[in-house]
Amino acid sequence: MSKSMIPVRVASVRDVAPKIREFRFTAVDQALPAFSAGSHVMVEMQGAEKTYRNAYSLMSDPADISSYGIAVRLQDESRGGSVFMHTQVQEGDVLNIAPPANLFAPHWAAKKHILIAGGVGITPFMSYLPEMKRRNADFELHYLYRSAQTGAYRQQLSEALGEKYFSYDSDHGQQCIVHQLLAQLSPGAHVYICGPESLIEAVKTEAATLGIPAGIIHYEEFAAPKPGKAFTVSLASSGQQIAVDGESSMLEALEEAGVEVANMCRGGVCGQCVTGVKEGIPEHRDDFLSAAEKASGQCVMPCVSRAVTDSLTLDL
Ligand code: FES
Repeated sequence: MSKSMIPVRVASVRDVAPKIREFRFTAVDQALPAFSAGSHVMVEMQGAEKTYRNAYSLMSDPADISSYGIAVRLQDESRGGSVFMHTQVQEGDVLNIAPPANLFAPHWAAKKHILIAGGVGITPFMSYLPEMKRRNADFELHYLYRSAQTGAYRQQLSEALGEKYFSYDSDHGQQCIVHQLLAQLSPGAHVYICGPESLIEAVKTEAATLGIPAGIIHYEEFAAPKPGKAFTVSLASSGQQIAVDGESSMLEALEEAGVEVANMCRGGVCGQCVTGVKEGIPEHRDDFLSAAEKASGQCVMPCVSRAVTDSLTLDL
């Protein structure tokens, strides 16, 4: 376990939708750190063959750090982490988490906040809502889900938010017309999206079509790194060679070998894991590096990117 990890006890586990399970964590031997609305934690799961590390939004009220809440969707094409959380983790277990980090904080200067959640993408907004209420912020929540799979907390949200709440159950043919939603955006409003890539792309594309500045569109996606061909990483300092199999990310392979690399989002957006490349050609899959940086081939984001060549020598 790296020095900064925090042990937490699983205080409760419950199903909140057909494919979503909620976990509540409490402190073991050190108080849980404060966090802000929109934060996430990386949860470490010790499987039989490998350690899984997934990022999950904190969905509890930031004003109450007696426990942390996360909700995990059982992924149809899980690489192991969500299956582990759903099948192995039980009340009383101890897991390690990284301290909270926030890449999706509300822009409090906005005059209005339009929150768009897709499925389990509701989770960061669960931590926004109490804070929005305390600050008397103007907001709307638009919640898209499939009731046969997701749609957690919708009763609770409907009761708590009243006319600020709009729900769209695609299993019942209810559609959110993104064009209409964005066309009615009031001056000074900001838009936040959390959900699958397709939803984020749809909102970004519609916003661009309507001439809405990209700076007021904020989004967060916790996509698992996509698989690819296997390759080998060499560490320039020691010559150590580490195999990256087709299902694991470069970051996961480095961690499995005991090599610590700073990271925060594990999804190619935050820039924390940037690592120099000495030899070989990276296959860039991140949203952080500029086109020129990618073309130079001198650095790589190991959380999502891979290698075109059979091996990559990293400046580690
Ligand atoms: S950890 Fe955020 S870009 Fe890699």
